[in-house]
Order: sequence, then structure tokens, then C-alpha cells
Amino acid sequence: MAACTSFVKLNASSSSWIGQQSFNQRACAFPSRSRVSIVKASSSGSYTDELVKTAKSIASPGRGILAIDESNATCGKRLASIGLDNTEVNRQAYRQLLLTTPGLGDYISGAILFEETLYQSTTDGKKFVDCLRDESIVPGIKVDKGLSPLPGSNNESWCQGLDGLASRSAEYYKQGARFAKWRTVVSIPCGPSALAVKEAAWGLARYAAISQDNGLVPIVEPEILLDGDHPIERTLEVAEQVWAEVFYYLAENNVVFEGILLKPSMVTPGAEHKEKASPETIAKYTLTMLRRRVPPAVPGIMFLSGGQSEVEATLNLNAMNQSPNPWHVSFSYARALQNSVLKTWQGRPENAEAAQMALLVRAKANSLAQLGKYSAEGESEEAKKGMFVKGYTY
Ligand code: 13P
Repeated sequence: MAACTSFVKLNASSSSWIGQQSFNQRACAFPSRSRVSIVKASSSGSYTDELVKTAKSIASPGRGILAIDESNATCGKRLASIGLDNTEVNRQAYRQLLLTTPGLGDYISGAILFEETLYQSTTDGKKFVDCLRDESIVPGIKVDKGLSPLPGSNNESWCQGLDGLASRSAEYYKQGARFAKWRTVVSIPCGPSALAVKEAAWGLARYAAISQDNGLVPIVEPEILLDGDHPIERTLEVAEQVWAEVFYYLAENNVVFEGILLKPSMVTPGAEHKEKASPETIAKYTLTMLRRRVPPAVPGIMFLSGGQSEVEATLNLNAMNQSPNPWHVSFSYARALQNSVLKTWQGRPENAEAAQMALLVRAKANSLAQLGKYSAEGESEEAKKGMFVKGYTY
């Protein structure tokens, strides 16, 4: 409708009324590409410069993201693995341990929080967002509301959370968040169906536009699940299809590419495939996919770990940084940064310092991998254990 009105205004003096009316009616019914571009909207408005700056600072050399945005239910699973109850006090104690690790900012540029954590403080009353700022770590927030079954698909899911997202995002910004995360998933064994891919891509693009409009850099995360026995070539094919659609809709929604970050899965064989791929092969396939699909305007690619072991995730990242890339290629790991921390902590205050050291060991290893300088020499057996869970929910 807006396109019709402005076209009338632009041409009002140059045509006879009757001729113009019939021409405009046709133009509104079948807008051509050039006419649509006359009224092209632009997104992110007043926040553009800030978004670009935030994205650049997260994508800074030798640093990556600590993802601790588990929903209360998923955090409960982490706590249960060391025999702790899923209470607010225990979740706060665990997050406090992570977020008050001295020197964390040397390796970590952003931390993704769950809503509860964004509004929490340490037991001494210091806001968690201030703990992060003191280490030059940008606070981020998970804004999606999780997955639901997608009717009409092949047992696939879609991501919830667009309703009320603008007002929630504005509140998160006020509380100190400067970037956001929305995780949707694509399942290879379930298809993926064209419907599920389109829904995932469209949802990510709407979320990205709304986030930018409210000053939050959107992390765009269509996680292609590791589940399945398919070869690496099939993952490449699906990843290319998914990212093509994601960028198509990001552009349609006027998202500023310089003010986003991506969180892809690495291109690997399915977790149940008969052969494992080496870090060099994973790096080759993953970078091929990214070069074919991701414009160099995007500042950073922050991989998820997806159930790989801590060492595997670090080795794969290191292999991707053996020669220069058009974007900052780094990490946004949850499981691959937290596993040995939890095992060391065991919920005991006397282990807290050792657990923080364990976090620094992993963060430093991934920092080196971001610079292409990591070696797995001396890594513990625990850090080599895989963490894949079928049909994982976050
Ligand atoms: P993992 O690194 O455990 O796959 O976490 C994924 C994620 O989306 C966290 O934000």
C-alpha cells in the first residue's frame, strides 16, 4: 500500500489522471523490482553505528563468546550431572563462578546469558552485567522462547519468541545487553523439508531486524543438528541451502550485515556416520560453505560446539584459522567451554578457584585456536570426551 501511494506522488504531474490511475493500479498489483526499490525501507535506524561497533568488538582477535544461556531446564541438567538440585541459588552460584573468573576478558569478548542471569547479581550484590563490563566482555541475551513442533512438516520444529520481542529487546538493552541470540534448528534425518528451512530462515531474519531496531546485535543461529548417519557431503549440501535462505530473508528484512554475527554448526559428518572426519577435512568443508554463502561484510563467525568434545571443537577451530579468512572465525561454545569446569567444581566452594582455572584453560585454548596457534599437547582425557546427545535441546 505504501508503495502505491508514493508512486502516485512521484508521478502525479506527469500523466493524465485516467491513464495514471490504471497504470498505478497495475503497478500496485504487480510491483516491479525497480518500483519496490523506490520505497525500500531501512532497518536499525539510530543504532547502526553502535551495532557495527559492538559486533566488531565481539569479533576481536583472539577472543570469542562464552555461551551460558541455558534455559532453567537445561541448566538443571548441567547441575544434575554433578548432583546439584535445580534451584535459583545453585544456578546463580554456578553462573557467578563463571562470570567472576579473573582475567576472563583476555579470551572472552561476549557472554550470552539467560534472562534470569541478566537480572541477577553476585552474592555480594554486584550485578553480573557489571562483572562482565569490568572485563570488557559484552553482555548478551538469549531471546528465543525455544522450539515447538512445526505442523505440516516432517516431525520438524520451529522457534518461538517473535511475539513481544521488540519490547523485551528494549528492556534487555536497558539492563545492559548489547547482543542477542536466537537458536533454531534444522534436522537432516527429518528431511529437512522446504517448509522447515523457510520457517527457520524467516524467523531468524525477523528476529534479526527486531534486534537491530532495538540496539542488539543479533547472533543468527540456524543450528544444523549433528544427528544422523549421513556423510559430510550431505551436511555441506544442507548447510548451503539453509544459509542461502537465511541471507535471502536477512536482505529482504533490511538487516545490516555489518551489525550481525553468525553462529553456524561446523560442517561435519552426522554423529552416527561410520567414519569420523579430521579437523582439516571439517575446516575445508566448513570454509567452503562459508565462502560460498557469507558476504565479507559480516564481521564474525562464532561457531557452536554442538556436542563435540572440548578438544575436538578447539582443534577444528584451529584448523579453520590456518590462513586468513574474510571474517573473524571464532567460537561461541557452551558445552565445549563448560564441561571440565563442571567436573572440577562439583558444586563445592573449595573447588571454585580450580574450576575458574579450568574455564581459563579452555578459554585460552580457544583463543589460541582463533589465532591458529593451538596445539592439543597436554590436554586431559576429560577434555577429549564427546558430549553429543541425540535430539539435544538448549
Ligand atoms: P553448544 O556449544 O553446547 O552447542 O551451545 C550451542 C548454543 O547455541 C549456545 O548458545
